Amino acid sequence: KRIAVFASGSGSNLQVLLDRAAEGTLGGAQVVLVVCDKPEAKAVSRAEQAGVPVLVVIPKEYPDKASYEARILEELRSKQVDFIVLAGYMRLVGPTLLEPYRGRILNLHPSLLPNFPGKDAIGQALEAGVPHTGVTVHFVDEGMDTGPVIAQETVTIEDKDTKESLTQKIQAVEHRLLPQVVSDYARGQIRVNGRTAEYLK
Ligand code: GRF
Repeated sequence: KRIAVFASGSGSNLQVLLDRAAEGTLGGAQVVLVVCDKPEAKAVSRAEQAGVPVLVVIPKEYPDKASYEARILEELRSKQVDFIVLAGYMRLVGPTLLEPYRGRILNLHPSLLPNFPGKDAIGQALEAGVPHTGVTVHFVDEGMDTGPVIAQETVTIEDKDTKESLTQKIQAVEHRLLPQVVSDYARGQIRVNGRTAEYLK
């Protein structure tokens, strides 16, 4: 399978996917394209370093979201991308991309959805004073972090945790869970069926 990874930030999850694909331990998936909406993001240099083509698309250079996404879609088609992984891509996916790739877009989110969707999920969990938060990988639909859940893992919040320490714990889980789900998906072991994602093992 040929995958595209979308990232807006540091790209640590992108790096794990690039490394696993290069090692041949990502269920046979190859990363054939990285899409980034921020030219200065570290994700761009990570992709370049790995020798993977990068499409940098700056939303404000397009008249609207549909034409911005149409540019991305053109590149996905030319690279024959089978599925998309959003790894810290900080935008809602619109219908231009969602319709052709429905059920084939995975997102990573740093909370146990449906709790704490949207921005700063880690800060939201700390603020709420909950004892546990976690990591979710889910299929993307038109909502904000609302599509069918594929996998979740819990992370305990301790009294001594700060934003930094909790972020580190969550990232460690992300770096394990995301490649596992991507690998299973590439091997055809996960399907989305209406509102439900299921493992077919
Ligand atoms: C991750 O915590 C992910 O859950 C969230 O954005 C962060 C991206 O981190 N959606 P990185 O860019 O992969 O380091």
